[in-house]
Amino acid sequence: MRLTVIGTGYLGATHAACMAELGHDVLGVDVDPEKVAALSAGRVPFHEPGLPELVAKHTASGRLRFTTSFAEAGAFGEVHFVCVGTPQRADSGAADLRHVDAAFAALAAHAAPGALVVGKSTVPVGTAQRLARNHATEVAWNPEFLREGFAVEDTLRPDRLVFGVESARAETVLRAVYAPVLAAGTPLVTADFPTAELVKTAANAFLATKISFINAMAEVCEAAGGDVRTLAEALGHDDRIGPKFLRAGIGFGGGCLPKDIRAFAHRADELGVPLTFLREVDAINMRRRDRVVELARELCGSDVRGARVTVLGAAFKPGSDDIRDSPALAVAARLRLEGADVTVHDPEAMDNARKAFPSLGYALGLEDALRGADLVLHLTEWPQFREIDPERAAALVARPRIVDGRGVLDPDRWAAAGWRFRALGTPAPA
Ligand code: UGA
Repeated sequence: MRLTVIGTGYLGATHAACMAELGHDVLGVDVDPEKVAALSAGRVPFHEPGLPELVAKHTASGRLRFTTSFAEAGAFGEVHFVCVGTPQRADSGAADLRHVDAAFAALAAHAAPGALVVGKSTVPVGTAQRLARNHATEVAWNPEFLREGFAVEDTLRPDRLVFGVESARAETVLRAVYAPVLAAGTPLVTADFPTAELVKTAANAFLATKISFINAMAEVCEAAGGDVRTLAEALGHDDRIGPKFLRAGIGFGGGCLPKDIRAFAHRADELGVPLTFLREVDAINMRRRDRVVELARELCGSDVRGARVTVLGAAFKPGSDDIRDSPALAVAARLRLEGADVTVHDPEAMDNARKAFPSLGYALGLEDALRGADLVLHLTEWPQFREIDPERAAALVARPRIVDGRGVLDPDRWAAAGWRFRALGTPAPA
């Protein structure tokens, strides 16, 4: 089939390449000529394992092309996927639908008669119905659940597909698009527009709630002297709870969970169904950043002014160079404001971090980052940080003091190497 993908960010670029992999002819569309030029040359402008290979393969095979022209997209596509961003509005926390509205308007002006326009962006419930009413093109909603770092895998082998459709024809078209995925046994849920939109927001709200739940338990452990790692392990054995997304730490960040729960809370207020617990989920999440700052002060003797602080991690999670709403960088920036001399190291996200936080120091090598530090903060759990030898690291730093903000380092091992070790939700080693 001939598909277009409007918006070539994380979601769109991945979707376009994966649709080509499924055998379709795909045209990616973006308003940014630089992105289009990079992708056309087979280059992916962000870190996503497996995606560069797929983009290179299909730009070479001719099955994947990119353009800035909506007229070209309209003439080409039988099905158009809208994958543009829905950022958070600074004033209210609501989702900013400017890009979604612009994409649907442009497609309405250019799409061929009979073409199907499929929304994939995360939107407030009610958006699909409004767009379908306002435009003559046929609309469907097909939310996306991919995780950064596993985007290709999650797109080609998703846990489920959700089709929000209002006609049998729209469902038939989407079934044809995803035929190989469905043939592999992927569960399909078909729904009306509001339900399809809500599956996405509800899923992210649930995941955020699960993380904030365990982080609230970490707060209780800190107050009562318990150990949240052991608690999470024991809870996870109950398969109604499950062990995933139960890792306590500095909290969730990224371009999705934080903004999605705020937008959902805002939309729920509009609907007269206040989801006040989501505001608490957000507040618990933010308090974890405060707690790391507090521990940093405590370890530096009440004040971080003049202390040389090494922050391990800048990406919002390992496996990504995305620094949107990164807890690690939020803490780094706070400590800098309080007068610490902060050096950040990350295996992938240094360029993005440097652009967004030019006042922080950066070290390209891990050993350079550690050398002379008064305090080390482990804030993004890259595998290479887990492999640090505490004894070797102790010889590099000025003072062996560390906060594990992700709960993955072995407290006893670090303490045995002479480190003052603190972690969230875990008692200090004896
Ligand atoms: C998230 C969802 O997991 C995807 O299903 C969804 O499609 C995506 O948002 C989206 O809406 O586009 P992503 O933002 O890539 O995906 O990252 P996650 O792997 O969900 O991690 C989110 C944050 O939670 C990270 O900062 C991570 O460090 C944190 N986290 C995760 C924890 O603090 N504890 C955990 O146990 C798990």
